[in-house]
Amino acid sequence: MASWVIHLALLLCIPSQQVLGAEHHTISVQSLLSGSICSSSSPAGPATPTSRPGAGRTLHIIRRACQEKTGEHMTASDHYTALLRRDQYRVQSIHRRLAGAKSTSTIPAHLGLPFHTDEYVVTVGVGTPPQNLTVLFDTGSDLTWVQCTPCSDACYPQEEPLFNRSNSKTYRDIPCDSPSCDIGGGQETSCGSSTCAYNVQYGDQSQTWGDLANETVTLSPASPPAANVVFGCSQRTSGFKEIGTKVAGLLGLGRGDSSILSQTGPVSVFSYCLPPRVSSTGYLTIGAAPQGNFTYTPLRTMNPQLSSMYAVDLVGVSVNGAAIPIPAGAFAPGATIIDSGTVLTHMPAEAYGPLRDEFRRHMGRYKMLPPGAVVDFLDTCYDVTGQDVLTVPRVGLEFGSGGAIDVDASGILVVAGAKGEAVACLAFVPIQSAGLVIVGNMQQRAYNVVFDVAGGRVGFGANGCN
Ligand SMILES: *[C@@H]1O[C@H](CO)[C@@H](O)[C@H](O)[C@H]1NC(C)=O
Ligand SMILES: *[C@@H]1O[C@H](CO)[C@@H](O)[C@H](O)[C@H]1NC(C)=O
Ligand SMILES: *[C@@H]1O[C@H](CO)[C@@H](O)[C@H](O)[C@H]1NC(C)=O
Ligand SMILES: *[C@@H]1O[C@H](CO)[C@@H](O)[C@H](O)[C@H]1NC(C)=O
Repeated sequence: MASWVIHLALLLCIPSQQVLGAEHHTISVQSLLSGSICSSSSPAGPATPTSRPGAGRTLHIIRRACQEKTGEHMTASDHYTALLRRDQYRVQSIHRRLAGAKSTSTIPAHLGLPFHTDEYVVTVGVGTPPQNLTVLFDTGSDLTWVQCTPCSDACYPQEEPLFNRSNSKTYRDIPCDSPSCDIGGGQETSCGSSTCAYNVQYGDQSQTWGDLANETVTLSPASPPAANVVFGCSQRTSGFKEIGTKVAGLLGLGRGDSSILSQTGPVSVFSYCLPPRVSSTGYLTIGAAPQGNFTYTPLRTMNPQLSSMYAVDLVGVSVNGAAIPIPAGAFAPGATIIDSGTVLTHMPAEAYGPLRDEFRRHMGRYKMLPPGAVVDFLDTCYDVTGQDVLTVPRVGLEFGSGGAIDVDASGILVVAGAKGEAVACLAFVPIQSAGLVIVGNMQQRAYNVVFDVAGGRVGFGANGCN
């Protein structure tokens, strides 16, 4: 099958500087402050492919790190806190599903969305001729959807024109009696009229409802469009307006049958690099493995409630190269999820505790705030007002069979600032869930992450966005 390369680009609005020492990272505070100052812009369309060996289709992924005017009565850090709380909802939803909870109206069928200040987006062409739409990119959910006209009153405002199916000659509703009306993975469908309707609820409590349709999707102008893709033509959403996102929808890269990957191949391998900073460019390759020096860890499959997730084994954590003493059994086998849509890394309290203690030991020169001073679930925050650069210890994640990530300097602290004050918090948090770990998108930044589904492994390579 053809392969596709999707390029990631980063729109951070503040220049960054970073000097890597032998052990610690030294990083500019300004470069970590992404959420509050600046305007974002949207790409005009799927980007022209650049030369990547062995790959065919190309898109850009933009990391939108800039906040629009939402929640006008909130300060930037209030807003940031609210967004981090959505991250918690997403994780709690994963936790419940790990415990075997069935999808019901109170147990979300799907995981939450990346929060607005750190959302990764791609521009895809939907329909014939293609209408260019910028959508979130999520490895934690399956169905791809975009907001469609008429969307009279229950769509959130988006940057680009709504998808207009009347202008596409390949758009087809999915009839109720079609096998395609069953999209599986706990995603609901129903028959409003004679056509199939869907409802997907995410872990952060946002939802989309609409018509299930059959359409041609172009992931890159340089390669053949994929015909007969089942996607959601959203007529109604909830929870999106509140986060202030301006995207046109979502690209589902999960492992389920309704994922774009399952429908267009099935795809045996894909990879991405989430760009860490200003003007850097990353990529998402679908269908081909990039060249490079990777460490690999086996891909695991979770319980049926979480079968869309990409899971691996986490076996150790280090700070400045020294292994943290973590009780045996703290990380359950096959229960570490590599997720593009969760922001922070979440791990069991008995592993988080020793990591946090060692991290704090290296941060002694900064003024620590009382636990919970910023938000209840963050207990390691520092007042960094007036600091130009921070010296931060390195954090390493070690996976089974030798896979490893030496977390990029941009992925260790989450920094929020407003009115001349700046606060930096450890971007790892504890969860009350036996064995479950979620590796968030901050900790994947700058790495080439390869999902070799056919080969049953996940690879990590440093400097992936270069
Ligand atoms: C969509 O993007 C492609 C590639 O950038 C461009 O050639 C095309 O004109 C765009 N289409 C529309 C309708 O803007
Ligand atoms: C959608 O396209 C049709 C046909 O071109 C047009 O009549 C209609 O006004 C468009 N709808 C919107 C909301 O733009
Ligand atoms: C999509 O529509 C085409 C053309 O009508 C049809 O051949 C194909 O089977 C449909 N695919 C799905 C998944 O419904
Ligand atoms: C590949 O990565 C390993 C582990 O990080 C390193 O020891 C080795 O030197 C690297 N090889 C090359 C050619 O970069």
